Amino acid sequence: MPYSLKGRNVLVTGGSRGLGEVICLKFAQEGCNVAINYNASEERAKGVAEKVKGFGVKVSLIQGDMGKEEECMKVVNQTIKDLGGLDVMISNAGYTRFMDFADLHAPTPYDWDTCWAVNVKAQSYLLREALPTFNSNPEGGCFIITSSIAGIKIGGSCLPYNVTKTAQLQLMKCLAATQGPKVRINAVLPGWLPTEWGMEYSAEQVADMNKNAWLRKPTDLDDCAQAYVDIAKNASMTGQKIQIRDSEEMFEETVEMSAGSSLHGPIISEKI
Ligand SMILES: NC(=O)c1ccc[n+]([C@@H]2O[C@H](COP(=O)([O-])OP(=O)(O)OC[C@H]3O[C@@H](n4cnc5c(N)ncnc54)[C@H](OP(=O)(O)O)[C@@H]3O)[C@@H](O)[C@H]2O)c1
Repeated sequence: MPYSLKGRNVLVTGGSRGLGEVICLKFAQEGCNVAINYNASEERAKGVAEKVKGFGVKVSLIQGDMGKEEECMKVVNQTIKDLGGLDVMISNAGYTRFMDFADLHAPTPYDWDTCWAVNVKAQSYLLREALPTFNSNPEGGCFIITSSIAGIKIGGSCLPYNVTKTAQLQLMKCLAATQGPKVRINAVLPGWLPTEWGMEYSAEQVADMNKNAWLRKPTDLDDCAQAYVDIAKNASMTGQKIQIRDSEEMFEETVEMSAGSSLHGPIISEKI
């Protein structure tokens, strides 16, 4: 049976701008109360909160660094306190630093540690903190992780980002397999998005990525954010990787997921 979103309490990490902002607005439009987590961009988060309020729902603004265990815990607990519960949690905040992917001297220990902290450990801490509430909700809870097609390819902004986005997908599957049946856990894998993050790629790199896409265009931000709403409403799906992208890799991944096939696709060309 479809899961109705009206009146649900939703937390979005990294909701102050980019994809997270659009996700906040999509859920508000569905009649959800929204807790917006931000780290550094307080003024922009306030702007998102004003837009969310425009939908006539409750809003909560919560500062917290998703690279720190205690702040992940604080953000979940503050959401529950401010909104009166928690039904859907979206871990959208991510970390990367653009560098030469093949240069093993390029990533610093800080890059490695921060990628692990924000892109992998945070998701475990967030869910651990939300679980008692999710399990006590009559209709359970829904956890959606923003991954990337970088998680299923070789390449992208940097090696630690690529490795940790892959680990994040494994974590998602482990959580889905062990933390149900009242909790659904899935990941969205966007292709290149025209956010501030995405704009760190050169025009030439972006043109190259679009040229290799079957639809010859970037992932639309609105389409991508809509996927979170659709996943949240779908009460029959868990442990899945949802690619918002068109490519042969998507077919390869889909076959692997559904049939355990060892089909090999072409050499990876996209660099998100
Ligand atoms: N852009 C792309 O092409 C692309 C493609 C695939 C996947 N993604 C994924 O999409 C997600 C969002 O990316 P975006 O393109 O929307 O980036 P963006 O426009 O740069 O926004 C990043 C958001 O993450 C927040 N954030 C960063 N570090 C944080 C931390 N330690 N704690 C809490 N919040 C933090 C930022 O908040 P503050 O500004 O308040 O610090 C901001 O709201 C990421 O997980 C990324 O991996 C992006």
